[in-house]
Amino acid sequence: MKVLVTGAAGFIGSHVVICLLESGYDVFAIDNFSNSVEDDFLQKDKSGLGGAESLKRVSELTGKDIPFAKCDLKNEQEVEKLFKTQKFDAIIHLAALKAVAKSVETPLEYYSNNLIGSLNLLNMCKNYGVKKFIFSSSATVYGLPKELPIREDSPTGQGLTNTYGQTKFMVEKILMDLAKAEKDWDIVILRYFNPVGAHPSGRIGEDPLGLPNNLMPFVAQVCIGRLPVLKIYGDKFDTPDGTGIRDYIHIMDLARGHVSALDHIKKNKQIGCEIYNLGTGKGYSVLEMVAALEKASGRKIPIEISAQRPVDVARMYCDPSLAYEKLGWRCEYGLSEMCRDLWNWQINNPYGYTKPLAEQV
Ligand code: WQD
Repeated sequence: MKVLVTGAAGFIGSHVVICLLESGYDVFAIDNFSNSVEDDFLQKDKSGLGGAESLKRVSELTGKDIPFAKCDLKNEQEVEKLFKTQKFDAIIHLAALKAVAKSVETPLEYYSNNLIGSLNLLNMCKNYGVKKFIFSSSATVYGLPKELPIREDSPTGQGLTNTYGQTKFMVEKILMDLAKAEKDWDIVILRYFNPVGAHPSGRIGEDPLGLPNNLMPFVAQVCIGRLPVLKIYGDKFDTPDGTGIRDYIHIMDLARGHVSALDHIKKNKQIGCEIYNLGTGKGYSVLEMVAALEKASGRKIPIEISAQRPVDVARMYCDPSLAYEKLGWRCEYGLSEMCRDLWNWQINNPYGYTKPLAEQV
């Protein structure tokens, strides 16, 4: 089965690709490098992976080739060319801009990239009869949760405070409407909680361009001394230690969830549109996460309490039981493995995929 993975060079994408390849799926990878490293040095690289250093390493780790194309989903001609030259059996659509604060400052860029990109892809899928579709959504669509743990039938779309969350919510609606109108689609929406960690090899991991937006990549860069201090956004939340609680999930568990969803689609015909939370069901606070990485690294992480973000949720964690019941998927890793693997990646790749200036020839 040949799977087109969009956003394949990114943090989630590279881990999903490695799990697909190790499960016997064939992968065609595309990325536009809006949030991953395109290294000119690699353009001349024989692997044909162009600038996708992350995928080059996935290819090394699996010993498998990864056909790859640079493609911007906003460009209809580029997308059409893909479907004209390749035969796909399924799509795993991960490509999206995901910086929450930036999405509020540049809504048009986010609607254009996340919505128009998804619509171009879906139209091409329809035209070329590719109707098995897995979509990367986010716990952000739950807005300010009224009930905990969050279940797939918990309210969505209310109190969405950022354009990023709106775009995820809107693409979910498009997929639900599509499955209602056309019965031959097999669609799975995966709502990610907070992915953390790295492949146990330490060869691939999270490498945000610029300052990390999310907690754990920021903490990891403070831990190796690349950033001076972690600013904790508020310690007056209604939580045991006053800091925000989230459902952190090991990136390998999250990636395996995509393989389980694909296996499910392969086994069951015309499922319509199904939705699953991908989380552990356990919440940890910011201070607990800092302590866990200090334990894994043996280092002290400097922190300072700063202002709470304008709209920040005190607690978010899910009920992951539906994914176990229907997909046979559940998390295998806990907090210590998340921090063990995050530390292993960060200490071995202090500057992510980019070489420090000193090492660049
Ligand atoms: C987690 C906790 C912060 C940074 C994100 C976005 C989006 C989504 C994942 C994909 C909160 C605290 C953070 C820092 C801090 N991705 N924090 N100092 O809030 O769940 O939002 O979820 O869909 O990226 O929606 O994750 O990592 O931003 O914050 O104190 O420098 O860490 O207050 O309590 P969140 P986060």
